[in-house]
Amino acid sequence: MAASTIERPAGAAEDWTVPQDWESYTPQEHAVWDELFARQAALLPGRAVKEFTDGLDILRIAKPGIPNFEELSERLMKRTGWQVVAVPGLVPDRLFFEHLANRRFVAGRFIRRPDQLDYLQEPDVFHDVFGHVPLLAHPVFADYMQAYGEGGLRADGLGAIENLARLYWYTVEFGLMREGPELKIYGAGIVSSHGESLFALDDPSPNRIGFDLKRLMRTKYRIDDYQQSYFVIDSFDDLLCQTVEMDFAPLYQELKQEEAIEADEIIPQDHVFSRGTQDYARSRERGDGHG
Ligand code: PHE
Ligand code: FE
Repeated sequence: MAASTIERPAGAAEDWTVPQDWESYTPQEHAVWDELFARQAALLPGRAVKEFTDGLDILRIAKPGIPNFEELSERLMKRTGWQVVAVPGLVPDRLFFEHLANRRFVAGRFIRRPDQLDYLQEPDVFHDVFGHVPLLAHPVFADYMQAYGEGGLRADGLGAIENLARLYWYTVEFGLMREGPELKIYGAGIVSSHGESLFALDDPSPNRIGFDLKRLMRTKYRIDDYQQSYFVIDSFDDLLCQTVEMDFAPLYQELKQEEAIEADEIIPQDHVFSRGTQDYARSRERGDGHG
């Protein structure tokens, strides 16, 4: 994840990376990983896309507990040329994009506390590694992530980071995919969350709408709760095809004239898979929600 105005923490290198210092994780920290891992690994077959569950085996390295980024990178490097590097927390946008453009995925090294298994606002090592790394083992998704990094550097120069960030949010973090007659999850924010893995597919509350690049780059999102709309792609090939070859500069120009779309809004040209009741979001606003 990226942020725009933050200072480099003491001890971080110029590219903001830090040593993972795997030896210093405590048994309790490894146990948190193991518990989260077991819970999601049991829930995801049949819910997550096959590309994700296939990629999971890259995380099944010899030792239990939080993966050692060096071992992980070695495996990933052989498959798709990606590496995982540790950072203290959010990194500035440009650095984040530069890392991606060079096939380096930046991951937080800290893990949530045992009382935060279900909800955490900042990405920890479980979100970053369990959520993101399996798909980096997939050649097409791996290319998409690199292209996104290059696109980010370009968007920065064009004053369009906000638009591009929405694309990341609604694909990499919260994307759904059509698999035959069914919808499946692949976004890292969903697959790393027990509650949202269920909510995104089964709950009547959110909208599920067909992917449309420009529409998605106009759509606001919420960072503090389950999404109000999810966007459905046909395949990673299709996603890559619709983004990598496309020149975003004219799109960004058009977007400057157009208003943003609210997170729960449906617009006339949407291909709607399911129209959400938004009951969940409304009950949360009233403060009587679950979770
Ligand atoms: N083609 C995009 C551009 O012209 C870059 C990009 C590729 C962005 C893939 C996201 C994903 O900026
Ligand atoms: Fe993430």
